[in-house]
Amino acid sequence: MTPLELYRDKNHACLMFTDLIEDDGQAVQANQFLIVDDDTGAVIDPGGNLAFNELFMGMTRHFPPHKLSYLIASHADPDIIASLDRWMTSTKALLVISRLWERFAPHFTKVGKTENRVIGVPDGGGHLPLGRHELVILPAHFMHAEGNFHFYDPVSRILFTGDLGVSMMSGAEARVPVTDLQAHIPRMEAFHRRYMVSNKILRLWARMARQLDIAMLVPQHGAPIMGKQAISDFFDWIENLMCGIDLFDDRAYQYPTAFIDPVTRQMRPALRSVNG
Ligand SMILES: [Fe+2]
Ligand SMILES: [Fe+2]
Repeated sequence: MTPLELYRDKNHACLMFTDLIEDDGQAVQANQFLIVDDDTGAVIDPGGNLAFNELFMGMTRHFPPHKLSYLIASHADPDIIASLDRWMTSTKALLVISRLWERFAPHFTKVGKTENRVIGVPDGGGHLPLGRHELVILPAHFMHAEGNFHFYDPVSRILFTGDLGVSMMSGAEARVPVTDLQAHIPRMEAFHRRYMVSNKILRLWARMARQLDIAMLVPQHGAPIMGKQAISDFFDWIENLMCGIDLFDDRAYQYPTAFIDPVTRQMRPALRSVNG
């Protein structure tokens, strides 16, 4: 399928690829992004090896991959940059990633591939030049990774939020922006309760994000959240969500009683159901 055009004017485009990974339920659906400003291009969260071939081929129609300036990674998970070795081989792009992961990312590549090609971004983030404009790298630590960034594009007014605001759905469904947040919450809730680290972090982030003029929140899994009302509802929801360490207590740290059966790949006894 062709990428979804999140924004385009004559000098600037933001494209979202939603369905490069086979929809067989083994790997979580993931979005990859191409931003082009004049003759400069960047890929945000290029993805794992499953996405590489399709993304490389798919983007050629919009920007020559060998001219890419940056591979920008919100954090260092497999679905974000496991394909790093192949990108480092096929392009001259610099990897832009948190300073926390700067020395871990080279484990994804063959020896020497990342030499002098990594921009390690400090916790405070910064402004990264992109063509005639820039991309603002915003602190988003602990949402969920310890060193984590969001990317704000002042031209399209899109905030790329990595694993924040994600929803579980197919690649085809992810092409349809969400404008009614209430109906969308059931597809986001379980993920955010477990993968986000704490409510304190969500509140700190919302305070920063509310100051931006945002047309769309675009996550790395699932559909974009679009329009003033839905975005403001998202801030309200996330600010009040208990998650991660808020919900963990001594019950979560007990010596295990369950056995793993490698034949069925299930737990014995099976996880207790609600009525026990
Ligand atoms: Fe992640
Ligand atoms: Fe992710």
